[in-house]
Amino acid sequence: MLVSDTKKSIIAFRSHALQGSISVPGDKSISHRSFMFGALASGKTHITGLLEGEDVLRTGKAMQAMGAVLSKAHDTWIVQGVGNGCLLQTDQPLDFGNAGTGARLTMGLVGTYDMETAFIGDSSLSNRPMGRVLIPLRLMGTQVTAAKGDRLPVILRGPRVAAPITYRVPMASAQVKSSVLLAGMNTPGITTVIESSITRDHTEKMLHGFGAEIDVETAASGARIIRLVGQGNLKGQIIHVPGDPSSAAFPLVAALIVPGSDIMIHNVLMNPTRTGLFLTLQEMGADITFLNKRKTSGEDVADLRVRSSALRGIHVPSERVPSMIDEYPILSIAAALAEGRTIMTGIGELRFKESDRLSSVSNGLKANNIPCTEGSDSLVIEGCPSGKGIGGGIVSTCLDHRLAMSFLILGLAVENRVTVDDGTMIRTSFPQFTTLMEGLGATFV
Ligand code: S3P
Repeated sequence: MLVSDTKKSIIAFRSHALQGSISVPGDKSISHRSFMFGALASGKTHITGLLEGEDVLRTGKAMQAMGAVLSKAHDTWIVQGVGNGCLLQTDQPLDFGNAGTGARLTMGLVGTYDMETAFIGDSSLSNRPMGRVLIPLRLMGTQVTAAKGDRLPVILRGPRVAAPITYRVPMASAQVKSSVLLAGMNTPGITTVIESSITRDHTEKMLHGFGAEIDVETAASGARIIRLVGQGNLKGQIIHVPGDPSSAAFPLVAALIVPGSDIMIHNVLMNPTRTGLFLTLQEMGADITFLNKRKTSGEDVADLRVRSSALRGIHVPSERVPSMIDEYPILSIAAALAEGRTIMTGIGELRFKESDRLSSVSNGLKANNIPCTEGSDSLVIEGCPSGKGIGGGIVSTCLDHRLAMSFLILGLAVENRVTVDDGTMIRTSFPQFTTLMEGLGATFV
């Protein structure tokens, strides 16, 4: 099921203490990669816990269009892959809807093939820069046709034989790193990607698990040098996708800011490249306990007990940005209910997400009487722990799921109702969001 074009507003009201036990849907980054790497591998990949949100289902459709066979038996998705180097030319453009990860990684996956592939998306995705993945593809020999500013629609035509490159990723981006590595899978020789500091490492870990020859060296500076031997074989795997920490962040912050709350969130991915928000909230005074720590499909996982807490503002260290890049909208809500000032710096990359999140978060805060200052790559928020006089605004969500969910969480803890102008796009990453939150005691209309 794909998102309809009809907007639907949602209103959140101040709620009583949240109580109960939930599991959040599978991790979005791992779910996209499970479909992609399964499609590229020989044999079958079995996936449980997959996020069945629109973004991931679009990736699944794209993989089907390129020759993979997808099916579902009970709660397991099965991908019959084509084998590395054997993706098929598509006769229709691949439509990635709202999904930057789906579009950018697939550009790498197929961009070095000697065939033509077209990419389209919704108005949010069509506004996002694709140059960051098109630049390395051009260096590998791919001919690119794109709209102004290297935006969608994009058509890629790979060379007869792609050239391996050594590429230093200019911004902290797991999507760019992954796109170049995937392009390297169909390229003879060694493709090398260098990142100045670590970003989410699912591509490296999972490609290794599928049998790729990939090696990671960490320099004294902290830079990571990732070398991939192209044209190797990948073999189908069994994958259990753990719960998405970026989705867990919403009920987690809700429990922290709604007085008297005490909830459990089960089976949350604890990969250290993804847990920056948990650390930051603990520094702000959050009561989060990590229980039953274990490994699932090679990833750290835990159950989280979260109790409402008196939060205080802090300066969030900018070196932590990559490990919580998707969590700044919901962190801003925690900051709005914290004592004192929260300072977030080094967050210019937020401008290239599903919306320009620096502006859209700051506009949403101001619309709800929360004082904040937006800089070119920073945001400073003055908190109001009682929530008195806060809320009452209508938030423009700009096709951004994390913006919609964040401001609905705000509405649960403040004096006046908070309205988001559209909540339909929440289905791209967290289709069960309102139902799960209502089960904990949240009031939405
Ligand atoms: C993702 C990487 C991040 C993140 C996105 C998912 C991934 O994007 O914001 O939601 O799965 O690789 P950037 O690479 O643009 O930082």
